[in-house]
Amino acid sequence: MSEQPKRTLVTSALPYANGPIHIGHIAGAYLPADLYVRYLRLKKRDVVWVCGSDEHGAAITLRARKENTTPRAIVDQYHEEMQAAFAGLDIAFDHYDRTSSKEHHDFAQGFFLDLLKKGAFTEETRQQFYDPEEQQFLADRYIQGTCPKCAHDAAYGDQCEKCGSALSPEDLVNPRSTLSGAAPEMRETTLWYLPMDRHERWLREYLESGVLDGAGHHDPKAWKAHVLGQCRSWIDGGLQSRAMTRDLDWGVPVPVEGAEGKVLYVWLDAPLGYITATRNWAQKNGVDWKPYWQDKDTQLVHFIGKDNIVFHCIIFPILLKEQGDYLLPHNVPANEFMNLEGDKISTSRNWAVWAQDYVDDFNGRSDEMRYVLASIMPEQRDSEFTWPDFQARVNNELADVLGNFVNRVFVLSGKFHDGKAPGASGNWTAVDQALRDLITATPGLVGEAIERYRFRDALQHAMGLVRAGNKYLTEEEPWKVVKTDPDRAADILHLALQVTANAAIVLAPFLPRTAARIAAALGTSDLPWDAAGVALVAAGQPLGSLPILFEKITDEQVAEQQGKLGAGVEGMRDVEPEKAQTTFDDFQAMDLRVAEVLTAEKVKGADKLLQLTVRTGYDERTVVSGIAEHFSPEEVVGRKVMLLANLAPRKIRGVVSQGMVLMASTEDGGLRFVTPEEGAEPGDIIR
Ligand code: 2FM
Ligand code: ZN
Repeated sequence: MSEQPKRTLVTSALPYANGPIHIGHIAGAYLPADLYVRYLRLKKRDVVWVCGSDEHGAAITLRARKENTTPRAIVDQYHEEMQAAFAGLDIAFDHYDRTSSKEHHDFAQGFFLDLLKKGAFTEETRQQFYDPEEQQFLADRYIQGTCPKCAHDAAYGDQCEKCGSALSPEDLVNPRSTLSGAAPEMRETTLWYLPMDRHERWLREYLESGVLDGAGHHDPKAWKAHVLGQCRSWIDGGLQSRAMTRDLDWGVPVPVEGAEGKVLYVWLDAPLGYITATRNWAQKNGVDWKPYWQDKDTQLVHFIGKDNIVFHCIIFPILLKEQGDYLLPHNVPANEFMNLEGDKISTSRNWAVWAQDYVDDFNGRSDEMRYVLASIMPEQRDSEFTWPDFQARVNNELADVLGNFVNRVFVLSGKFHDGKAPGASGNWTAVDQALRDLITATPGLVGEAIERYRFRDALQHAMGLVRAGNKYLTEEEPWKVVKTDPDRAADILHLALQVTANAAIVLAPFLPRTAARIAAALGTSDLPWDAAGVALVAAGQPLGSLPILFEKITDEQVAEQQGKLGAGVEGMRDVEPEKAQTTFDDFQAMDLRVAEVLTAEKVKGADKLLQLTVRTGYDERTVVSGIAEHFSPEEVVGRKVMLLANLAPRKIRGVVSQGMVLMASTEDGGLRFVTPEEGAEPGDIIR
């Protein structure tokens, strides 16, 4: 294929419509695709980007069950909510579809029948796990157990989300029904299977061909190493048959007589959703969809998270190849995972930054989140988002470098040149020339990195130009030079304006709002990529006013956002974060004993302290305890308590305390004794 494809079809993983979108989703499969597509659009290339809600599968039905509602109600709700969240972060698909539509059901059924006719499936009657209480066959997320590969104890029947392995229910150790928790029985049912072992040979060749270019050299736009690594290890392990239908009532019905109560496997139907979406997009725009999926001069690129690799790099290509009319993916630049403030992102623990919450809390400031997520995108390995890092990047990079630079350029041009772009003498110094060379080189560097799916590098190149412009302005000091040499000052500002306009181009994929603001202040709304260069802003070009581009993020905002993490989970309390991990040896070093309080009195001059005498069973000793505001001496005497007995003696208000009584602090700020069970005696050791 030629270096530049005739057209590109981009897809992003269809998110399950079973919950809101968080920044881990955004950084995984949506922002990178958005950056890629915005760049191609600015290059005026033929590109279409489709996505949509994945509305089938156990993710949906289990959610409906939990909320005591119907799958339809769940998908209708989240289909809308997810689109609003994407829009709030300027994730600009060409078309966003859904898989529960009639068009999709019709298309997926037709595709299934095609494959059936071509002999792609085998029909087999096998023993399957069955939940007798719920009277339902158990596959996918309906069944959990221990992963045979990594020992994760909550692997699903189709995949272990910890190690990414594709599984079948019978692979699970100690399987249990996620519906009832019951140990499943075996029952017989008939399913259609995809025998994947038939495909190992060509799959291997196909995947390896993504590594080398036509001349047999390592292709810089090759598949990512971690994607290929996963694929190779699956193929090396031998591909098993995989059931392509399920005994369920929510999904695309199997279009075969006698198959009532059976639906297509969600991982057969969902990727076909990419095709349905393209067909619907094409129909809406009055164009032919087929070249996007069937013309060899099209490049098909799937943006996904790493948990979806097997489905996009092995199963979907097999389905497409069996059908025969379709292109195989040109690349699958899967991202790894993004963690959050020292922990994995978790919906159930509300350990997430929800896209819609961000949009609501930081009204209109989508560029800031896009910038930070692009800076830390988990392209090659897992990465981590923290609010202090978000604050530092926004304040130190966006506000202090980009915002400050562009603002100074506009203010100075307004002041010294009457709000018009100054012309240049053409007498460039060596410093000027170096900056002009950087202007010329930057669009190519940014574009090349984007085309290699290296979005972090691309952003660094783009910001490199801004940093260089900022440094140039600071060091050349046109506001001083203007007093002695106005022509030289005009040259400096002229060049700084070229940097500004070029920055607006190369940053546009990352910061679309900021780029549009700068472009508007430069008097244009159209800054295509190929317009970049050292003569972008003409002499005399009127300059508009520029709003403040970035407000700083305050410490209060950081604290407020951190406070939201983990909050409000049903049955969960908001507590202090756990302390750093300790060791078993450290625990063993503590001598904890049951003791009995014999006497108690207030410590003179200290409102908070009680002086206790406690009996440990082997001695009597004095302990000073900070509980006087919560308990009177009478309430304490006679109690059995837990004592940290080997705490080094400390002098507190003149009294030597030989140990510490353990207390539990309650949600409302109160204190309670940690009381041993009835029958425990002083001296009993706690271990
Ligand atoms: O992992 C997920 O969220 C899936 N819903 C992704 C589906 S991608 C595609 F194949 F539809
Ligand atoms: Zn595993």
